[in-house]
Amino acid sequence: MATENGNFKKIISHAKEYGFVFPSSEIYDGLSAVYDYGQNGVALKKNIRDYWWKSMTQLHENIVGIDAAIFMHPTTWKASGHVDAFNDPLIDNKVSKKRYRADVLVEEYVAKIETKIEKEVARAAKRFGNSFDENEFKKTNPRVISYIEKSRNILSRLNKSLGKEDLNDVKNLIEELEISCPESGSKEWTDVKQFNLMFDTKLGASKDSAMDLYLRPETAQGIFVNFLNVQKTSRMKIPFGIAQTGKAFRNEIVARQFIFRMREFEQMEMQFFIPPGTQKKWYEFWKEKRLKWHLSLGMGEEKYRLHNHEKLAHYADAALDIEFRFPFGFKELEGIHSRTNYDLSNHEQFSGKKLQYFDPEINESYVPYVIETSIGLDRMFLAVLSNSLTEEKLSDGSIRTVLKLPPALSPIKVAILPLVKKDGLPEIAKKIINELKLDITSIYDEKDAVGRRYRRQDAIGTPFCITIDHQTLDDKTVTLRNRDSMKQERIKIEHIKNYINEEVSLRSILKKL
Ligand code: GAP
Repeated sequence: MATENGNFKKIISHAKEYGFVFPSSEIYDGLSAVYDYGQNGVALKKNIRDYWWKSMTQLHENIVGIDAAIFMHPTTWKASGHVDAFNDPLIDNKVSKKRYRADVLVEEYVAKIETKIEKEVARAAKRFGNSFDENEFKKTNPRVISYIEKSRNILSRLNKSLGKEDLNDVKNLIEELEISCPESGSKEWTDVKQFNLMFDTKLGASKDSAMDLYLRPETAQGIFVNFLNVQKTSRMKIPFGIAQTGKAFRNEIVARQFIFRMREFEQMEMQFFIPPGTQKKWYEFWKEKRLKWHLSLGMGEEKYRLHNHEKLAHYADAALDIEFRFPFGFKELEGIHSRTNYDLSNHEQFSGKKLQYFDPEINESYVPYVIETSIGLDRMFLAVLSNSLTEEKLSDGSIRTVLKLPPALSPIKVAILPLVKKDGLPEIAKKIINELKLDITSIYDEKDAVGRRYRRQDAIGTPFCITIDHQTLDDKTVTLRNRDSMKQERIKIEHIKNYINEEVSLRSILKKL
């Protein structure tokens, strides 16, 4: 599998070579942490977005969607706390002049200790064979115990210092751990400073009257400020949710790892409005729901883990990440946050407008509490892409590169290939594709030997290829080739559409939810 550490470069170059992701403005040497999606990338991204959207709005009668503007009144960001608190602690290395997130330097140090633990476990598992009990080993092996304790202590101190805004102590911690600059190896650090992640811009033509604006750093606020508009016009009763997908912008200090951390990215967020006091129940509910959504894609239960936040964002009373095993380790893919009534209450206060719900069941008005699910579309794209890229050694010794995307997410579902460019085969192939493309994203390809055409489709993750050959002229059957098993079977032309639809439609995964 090309998902191990060293193969991340392969994923990035595959994404470029096959029209999934290009560096932005590449002819000008690109723009750091900004990317463009190519012809296949845009289709994969749309399919992920559609799957999320349908699972939220179509499958839940009490969730509706909106599309709020990226620009919002600047007071929104004062009320939401982003102007004052949407900061990352940054630190510069005096020798390399490179800038880092101070918390990430410490977390990376801890990740190295965790790798040591994993290595100890792997060694012991090999030594003890079938009788190995990982939990027992971790509880009793003195070296592993000390590693675990060290990691815990470091993270707990980091979270405490950040929570208290004690940036001096964060610097002390970096120095005590003797963390050096990954670039220069130097341990000479500046003080830690807070850095606000919002991009600002101006609205208006003249310098004097122009208004300072921010590019939204999360889509959620567009939902909060429209809470009553939607509730009244949809006549929703609490509990109900509002879903939205759209661009968000963050001036990330360290934007690395391809599309994992970008400065312009897309979020898929849902705010679920609930009565105060019921947040624990709904938090659990949405945790389970979202996990089920991920598992329905069949990428493997072992690829996910949950991480409860110790250091909570300024708006949350509980939060967890659904982490995915990316090629560079387990990292946050989605956040589930119990946001209390922080946002709505603050918008009430700053706007002077009531944002309350009259609950007919208790005959009272209140500011609802909110459970939020928030996933980065680009991150989900990277999870799917990196998990799917596979290299297989075939019996003839050659290597097959195949993108084993969940079929419902594949950019193209079926390729129609006439075996030769004569004898009436292209005409039949075109007739088939003209009918299929009304329902299914299909591609026609008649260039090169059929084996090479199969490989081209494997590389972009097309789940099925249909070959029209001379037998088709006799019995109106075609060869259907399965991407993953490479098995071929004959199937009647009239059955193609239903067969493929059954395997590749969003319906096929939606029904698992
Ligand atoms: N409304 C809550 C919120 O924005 P967050 O944890 O900051 O919470 C939610 O972001 C999700 O957005 C993350 O789990 C991640 O998938 C995605 N995300 C955040 N920053 C990102 C970035 N710079 N590039 C790509 N995706 C990002």
